[in-house]
Amino acid sequence: MAKKIKVGLIGTGGIARGCHIPGYQSIPDDCEIIWACDVNEELAKSTAKEHGIKKVTTDYHDLLNDPELDAVSITTPNKYHKQPTIDALNAGKHVLCEKPLAMNAAECREMCRAAKDSGKILQVALQMRFGGPARFMQDYINHGGMGDIYYARAQALRRRGVPGWGVFIDKEQQGGGPLIDIGVHILDFTLFLMGYPKPVSASGRCWDTLGKNPDLFNFLGDYDRSKFTVEDMAVGFIRFEDGQVMVLESSFMANVEREFFQTTLMGTESGATVRASGEEPIKIFTEKNQQLMDVTPRNIPEVKSSHTAEIQAFVKAIQNGDPSPVPGEQGLILNAIFDALYKSSDTGKEEPIDLSY
Ligand SMILES: NC(=O)c1ccc[n+]([C@@H]2O[C@H](COP(=O)([O-])OP(=O)(O)OC[C@H]3O[C@@H](n4cnc5c(N)ncnc54)[C@H](O)[C@@H]3O)[C@@H](O)[C@H]2O)c1
Repeated sequence: MAKKIKVGLIGTGGIARGCHIPGYQSIPDDCEIIWACDVNEELAKSTAKEHGIKKVTTDYHDLLNDPELDAVSITTPNKYHKQPTIDALNAGKHVLCEKPLAMNAAECREMCRAAKDSGKILQVALQMRFGGPARFMQDYINHGGMGDIYYARAQALRRRGVPGWGVFIDKEQQGGGPLIDIGVHILDFTLFLMGYPKPVSASGRCWDTLGKNPDLFNFLGDYDRSKFTVEDMAVGFIRFEDGQVMVLESSFMANVEREFFQTTLMGTESGATVRASGEEPIKIFTEKNQQLMDVTPRNIPEVKSSHTAEIQAFVKAIQNGDPSPVPGEQGLILNAIFDALYKSSDTGKEEPIDLSY
């Protein structure tokens, strides 16, 4: 029987309680959460009590000093991903770090180096690729259904969806707005389906006018407009080494018909529009014998929770000694693209993407 993996949570906020705890607790024979850590002591204590977690602390170093502990989930705001991740890896613990991997590519580099030196798993929490639509499309693409994918349009657009909780409007603690927060999911999903081509340069533009406007409605709760320091919308044009191109659109607030969370892939054999979930999440556009076909797949694998699937993959990889299911190097690629897009928005020029580490 495989070793039971002992896990600690660094950060017991929304994503820890909503996704990481249920994920680990879905496989009680394979893992057990033994530590809950949050700088908010009350929250750490109440989370531990509610979920039967034995040990509680406000200082994550306490977890790392525990020889019983095998792995940690880093579920803190983006500013607090880097140091706990590096310290955990150096202490010989495996790490599942929430997305985006870090505030910027420079931080990701340090984290990837620590993972390499420690030989432990660094997995980035990017759950969309564990869902049914991703699995269906990966299979379809691997069997040549799309031919060569040469263009993608990735969209994570909300009409009025600034998060009214947490620190998502604070550039200093998050590194950016919708681009880094929700754009990261659709960008990873799209790159995953394209086989993670190497990006070489990007051009982008960010805006912050709607997010700061106190007169505008917001679906996701109230927030202090004067503290809104991130972009409310970002658009990017990304070039890849082998000539592919992607357009990425991401917003917390935009004057669009509705929310769009989807990617459109165009290949030499067919095109496809893919959403992460919902009814009929995939539509394929192709041609047979000079007849144009729109195809709706009917056997998309059912995955109850992509978050749970991601956490199960993390635990299995530790037990089996497998490589990271979502390697830190891919988190670095995502942050390096964001760095180039933010820089390009300031300079007004196309910027190179540096993936070295
Ligand atoms: N994968 C997803 O779909 C998804 C969804 C939401 C959030 N996230 C990511 O999860 C992370 C946290 O987001 P959230 O919504 O849970 O935020 P949150 O504000 O609800 O929770 C973060 C918690 O971290 C704690 N914290 C801060 N610094 C700490 C430290 N040094 N040590 C211990 N605890 C510390 C805070 O007190 C807070 O309770 C972010 O990186 C966010 O991007 C991912």
